[in-house]
Amino acid sequence: MIHQKRRKELLSQLDKDALVIVTTNPEQLRNGDVYYPFRADSDFWYLTGFGEPESVAVLSHKSYTVFLRDRDKAREIWDGKRLGVDDAPKTLKSDQAFSISLIKQELPKLIAKAKTVYYNSKPSKIDVKINKHLSNYQSLTPFLHEMRLSKDNDEIKHMQNAVDISIKAHEMAMKQTKEGVYEYEIASIFDGYFRKNNSQHAYTPIVAGGKNACVLHYIENNKPLKEGDLLLIDAGCEVEGYASDITRTFPISGKFSDAQKQIYQLVLDAQLQAIQSIKPGNNVSKPHQIASNTIRKGLIKLGLLEDDKELSEFYMHGTGHWLGLDVHDVGEYKQANSHRKFEPGMVTTVEPGIYIRKSDKINPVYWNIGIRIEDDVLVTETGNKVLSQALAKEIDDIELLMR
Ligand code: GLY
Ligand code: MN
Ligand code: MN
Repeated sequence: MIHQKRRKELLSQLDKDALVIVTTNPEQLRNGDVYYPFRADSDFWYLTGFGEPESVAVLSHKSYTVFLRDRDKAREIWDGKRLGVDDAPKTLKSDQAFSISLIKQELPKLIAKAKTVYYNSKPSKIDVKINKHLSNYQSLTPFLHEMRLSKDNDEIKHMQNAVDISIKAHEMAMKQTKEGVYEYEIASIFDGYFRKNNSQHAYTPIVAGGKNACVLHYIENNKPLKEGDLLLIDAGCEVEGYASDITRTFPISGKFSDAQKQIYQLVLDAQLQAIQSIKPGNNVSKPHQIASNTIRKGLIKLGLLEDDKELSEFYMHGTGHWLGLDVHDVGEYKQANSHRKFEPGMVTTVEPGIYIRKSDKINPVYWNIGIRIEDDVLVTETGNKVLSQALAKEIDDIELLMR
C-alpha cells in the first residue's frame, strides 16, 4: 500500500500525459561466476518494494506496468524463486506485467502515448536500443528525491530499527575491545550481530585503531589494537533498505588519556551544539558552521591551530548528510542557490571530527588522535529527535560501559 501511495503522490506532481520509467540496479560481477549480493536501486525500491534484478517499472496516470524476469525452472533451482509475470500484478499491485525480454517491443508503445517521459537514471542504463524513443525525457530527480528526503512514519520506523540494532552492536564492540585484538575481530561483531537481526551493513564499516582513524575511509580493518590508542568505529546496518550511520570513538584501554579527553570533549561539544541547531526553519548549513566554529576555537585554545590557519588540516569533511535508503541519501541541500531550511521528516547525520597526524609542529601527546562522533537525527515539528541517543558518548558513560 505504501508503494502505491508513493506512486500516486509522484504522479500527482506530473502532467497528465507523463510517463515515468524507473529502473533497478544491474547485477554486479565480483569475479569469475560470483556476483555481489543484489541490492535494488533505492528509487526503484521506494516506488515498488520489489527486490529482483532486471526489472523496470513504468508509471502513468492511467496504468502501472512492470517488466520483470520470467519464471525459469532451471535458474530457480540455482538462484531461488522468481516472482514471474503471472503473479506480478497481484503482488506488486500493477495493472500489467511483461517479461523483461519484451521491453524493446512493449516500452515504445507506452512511450508513444506519453507527452513527457521521466527517468530515475540515465537512458543508457535502460537499454541503448530504446534510447531512440526517448529524446523528450526529463529527470525524475527533482520530484522523487524531494519525496525521499521527507521520511514518512513507515520509513522512520525502519530507520529507528536499523539504529537500534547498530547501537547494540556498537555497545558489544566497546565491551569486547582490548589491546591485542585485531580490528577485523571487532568488525566481525557487527557482521554477526547485523546478520543475526536480519539486517546488513549499510556501508563498509570503518574499524580504525590509533593512526588509522586519521584515514577517513579506512576500511582495511586488519591491524591489532594497541594499548593507549583510540578506536574509531563507523558502522551502521540497513533494515528494509533504510540505513543507520553511527560513529563512536573510545579508548582501547577503557580509559581516555588527558590529551584524548581534551580532543574528545571538543568534538562532543561541537556535535551537541550542532545537534541543537537542527530544527524546522533553521538553515541546513547551520550545524556545520557551529561545529566548525567550536572546533576552530577549541584547537586555537589548545595551541594546536594558529589563528590564521585553515581548519581543514584537522577537520576536512562536512558535519552531516541526509540519511535514508542511501547512506548518503538523496535530496538537495540548496534551493535556488542558497541553503534550504530544515523541515520535519528530514533525517541527517551529525558527525564532526578532529584528526591529528604526526607532525613536528604538534605536541606528541596529540599525535594519531582521530575522533569522530556521529549520530542520526530526525527533524521533528518542534526540534529534533536523536535516533541514536541511547548509545553512550559522554566520556564517563563510555568509560563506565567499558569497565
Ligand atoms: N559512514 C559514512 C559516513 O559517515 O558518511
Ligand atoms: Mn555519515
Ligand atoms: Mn558514518
